[in-house]
Amino acid sequence: MADETPFLSGTHQLTRSMAYDPDWVVEHSMGPNALWLAELLSQVMTLTDEMRVLDLGCGRALSSIFLSKEFAVPVWAADLWTPPSTNWQTIYAAGLQSRVFPLYVDACALPFADEYFDAVVSIDAYHYFGIDEAYLGYISRFIRPGGQLAVIGPGLREELDDFALQDAMPGWIKDIISFHSVEWWRQHWEKTGLVNVLVADWVPNSWQLWTYWCKYCYERTSRSNLLEQLAMLRSDQGKNLGFVRLVAVKR
Ligand SMILES: C[S@@+](CC[C@H](N)C(=O)[O-])C[C@H]1O[C@@H](n2cnc3c(N)ncnc32)[C@H](O)[C@@H]1O
Repeated sequence: MADETPFLSGTHQLTRSMAYDPDWVVEHSMGPNALWLAELLSQVMTLTDEMRVLDLGCGRALSSIFLSKEFAVPVWAADLWTPPSTNWQTIYAAGLQSRVFPLYVDACALPFADEYFDAVVSIDAYHYFGIDEAYLGYISRFIRPGGQLAVIGPGLREELDDFALQDAMPGWIKDIISFHSVEWWRQHWEKTGLVNVLVADWVPNSWQLWTYWCKYCYERTSRSNLLEQLAMLRSDQGKNLGFVRLVAVKR
């Protein structure tokens, strides 16, 4: 796949994730390539084998397996829509049953001890629950002081109100209503006084990454929702849509 995507290897050095079987990633994919996103996040945060990591909204556990394999971290693979038994099979097949633990959780009712995690990561999922004003106060309870909250997912280059969003991408409002800009997220977190934001950036070429992966998955699965997403990405041409990335440390 690396040969077909010069913009990937050139800009992002996605050498770890490119080594995985793309068919395996497609089979477990729930959106933009979770391994690419996990690798992009890993490049701006600290991960060591002594850390306990929560992968919040892990979907089919691709990123949990990737982070545990690449950085030797134990990962709690927590999700609402995918049953843990489904993820256990994938984790078992990857040989990571002693280091990746699948769980059914609602991000708003977590079953963990306070300050249990050294890092909480969330890949293409945090915008489902983290836009709530009170959520950072809630999730930060489960992170030890000095631990990290690291998030990557779809966002907007600039904030647009709902009417401008409707104009820019008619018909897509329900999908993108929870997308926000890097600056929105920075303020959303900083105003709480609970964390120091170390990284808040826009992933370069992210709409190309997203569009490429969407097309790649559609060609292999023919899923109609992918065709619809591809239409949205192509009509936008990276004007508004891409990936935002944030890493903060709990005070
Ligand atoms: C678009 S999928 C991304 C999944 C995975 N991280 C990936 O990148 O492939 C969004 C995920 O967010 C999870 N999610 C949404 N709301 C949630 C909540 N309240 N608690 C836990 N997970 C949630 C869903 O279960 C779903 O797996």
